[in-house]
Amino acid sequence: MEDGFVISIRQLAKVFPDREGRPVRVLDDISFDVLPGETLVVMGGSGCGKSTLLNCLIGELSPDDGHILYRTRAMAAPADMGAMGEEDLNALRMHFGILFQSGALFNSMSVADNVALPLREHSYVDPSIIDIVVTLKLQQVHMLPHRDKMPAQLSGGQKKRAGLARATALDPEILFYDEPSAGLDPVTSAAIDDLIIDLSKKLRVTSIVVTHEMDSAFRIADRMVMLDRGRVLKIGSRADFERIRITPPADLTDESQRIIHQFLNGETEGPLTDAEGLSEYEKWIVQG
Ligand SMILES: Nc1ncnc2c1ncn2[C@@H]1O[C@H](COP(=O)(O)OP(=O)(O)O)[C@@H](O)[C@H]1O
Ligand SMILES: [Mg+2]
Repeated sequence: MEDGFVISIRQLAKVFPDREGRPVRVLDDISFDVLPGETLVVMGGSGCGKSTLLNCLIGELSPDDGHILYRTRAMAAPADMGAMGEEDLNALRMHFGILFQSGALFNSMSVADNVALPLREHSYVDPSIIDIVVTLKLQQVHMLPHRDKMPAQLSGGQKKRAGLARATALDPEILFYDEPSAGLDPVTSAAIDDLIIDLSKKLRVTSIVVTHEMDSAFRIADRMVMLDRGRVLKIGSRADFERIRITPPADLTDESQRIIHQFLNGETEGPLTDAEGLSEYEKWIVQG
């Protein structure tokens, strides 16, 4: 791993109105770095701000406070995303590969055309070369036999693979995943995890993976960051989190560790549950 960061998130905040129109800090004072080449897993209960964070990182949402600094290989010095003009922002986005549920495949196009799309739109590559790149990208995710199929003919896992081939079409430096195994059975989900690990090694990318599936998180993560109702509860190595997971709550020194322990083990009793057994996360979402 090189020195420094690829992304540095500093005092990031995002405000959304709740149902009554009152402002809620959905992300509040979020600060951490993403290191070159690592796979960082972002965890946290539903509604705690994971997708909002990813959308800020890719420039889909603009933060209400704080900064997001990028330092890609092409940059001589770190640059603040918020200070970038449209041109610089587009140049930065060229280094992103994104696998979000919303960024699903275009149903009217074959698998191969879906993968070719970013190449046609964003690069000056000759059509004959595009075909070669598409073949390579599909091979990488074991989807070459399905190149001429339409998305409707694919299984859930195959759709994810095709989406991943498209996300890697422009040789990204940073891959963003939002719940990559959502809706998949455990075996297919584990295969997608293997692919994430494989691509991370082969393509030397930095990966940021949002998930609330713990098995998956512990399989793929170099480091983990746990969000709790809009804040960073902890960032640390997989081993740090593993230690908290297996330590009995009574032996954990502080409240945040007990919250992490309860979350990682999916336990019904602990600081995330009130006396009536209602999850603090559910209450937070209701309020948000
Ligand atoms: N566009 C929006 N307008 C208002 N509230 C939003 C919007 N997007 C997300 N939220 C709220 O922000 C909180 C965090 O949402 P999200 O980032 O999607 O959580 P997660 O991905 O962790 O489940 C939730 O309470 C959600 O209702
Ligand atoms: Mg989400």
